[in-house]
Amino acid sequence: MRLVVIGFGVVGQSFARLLLSRSADLYRLYGVNPRIVACIDSGGYAVSATGLDLQRLLNAKKLSGTVGAYDKENRKFDPLRLIEKVDAEMLLELTPTNLDNGEPGISNIIAAMKSGKHVITVNKGPLALAFPSLLELANYNNIKLRFSGTVGGGTPILEFAKRCLKGDSIISFQGILNGTTNYILSKMEEGLTFEDALNDAKYKGYAETVPFLDAIKDVNRRGITGVSLSDVRRAHKRGNAIKLIAICNNKQLDVKPTELSNVDPICVNGTLNAVTFSSEQSGEHTIIGQGAGGIPTASAVLRDLIDIRNTIFEQRENL
Ligand SMILES: NC(=O)c1ccc[n+]([C@@H]2O[C@H](COP(=O)([O-])OP(=O)(O)OC[C@H]3O[C@@H](n4cnc5c(N)ncnc54)[C@H](OP(=O)(O)O)[C@@H]3O)[C@@H](O)[C@H]2O)c1
Repeated sequence: MRLVVIGFGVVGQSFARLLLSRSADLYRLYGVNPRIVACIDSGGYAVSATGLDLQRLLNAKKLSGTVGAYDKENRKFDPLRLIEKVDAEMLLELTPTNLDNGEPGISNIIAAMKSGKHVITVNKGPLALAFPSLLELANYNNIKLRFSGTVGGGTPILEFAKRCLKGDSIISFQGILNGTTNYILSKMEEGLTFEDALNDAKYKGYAETVPFLDAIKDVNRRGITGVSLSDVRRAHKRGNAIKLIAICNNKQLDVKPTELSNVDPICVNGTLNAVTFSSEQSGEHTIIGQGAGGIPTASAVLRDLIDIRNTIFEQRENL
């Protein structure tokens, strides 16, 4: 399976490392042999029809700051044209989230779909701003669009809701869906100020470069910037913790800082995410897992890749 990767930051480089360490396993267990045939960042690109040498790609990025240093030639390039022209089965869209206009993610995804490439994105911007039209374009072009990494980082929250509760109906859910803000609140419980906790999250690669992009605008939402160290300490004295909780009831979605008991199953710390689904027939189910970080998010990309490959195979068999 030939891949075009756009965005080679925390998630992109983690994905390359994951492929390096797991390629034999992936072939043995799932029969997939993913090869990155083009990689693009904001400074340049690298291409190889047979697959880029991933260690060399990571070294080029580390030493020169751009994948363009993979080759000696320093050519001008148009990312959209590259996405369209390179022979590949799939685009991995791993560029920064932009909730103002969804770019460059939306254009990258459209270019891939129009040139017949399946798309995996971890970028929340295109989905928050253009999900219905991207889905329509995907269906029109018979393209698979997957986005596990946009919800819960490495935790298979979407898959759980979609696959494990088949036949049941979900009445509501509530939980922590943002590993970055949970990390910041957990660090504040340890005594760090909001600013220090945010800087620590950025240093560890969990936070967006523009941190306020880490939340969605089109839901009833209040973020954690108003939560002070003394609020956190007061909750702690009561045996509670303040968490950024998303609650969905009757199709209304609210996200706001909420005081939870420390023994509540969704009251998890660090970059963990936790969601409780309430279903009509089988009651409550709580899923907990890593919600941010390069490798957990890259593992969600890999999961999507295997899922697309399996879906394509099943469809072929049913023809
Ligand atoms: N990090 C996490 O824990 C996490 C978890 C879940 C979802 N996500 C999502 O994953 C995406 C990537 O996150 P990240 O942490 O990997 O971000 P990052 O470290 O900032 O990397 C972003 C990459 O995109 C490249 N880029 C920026 N603008 C571009 C453009 N116009 N054309 C081509 N490449 C461009 C950057 O190039 P340069 O390297 O040249 O700057 C960089 O390689 C974001 O949308 C984020 O919301 C991240």
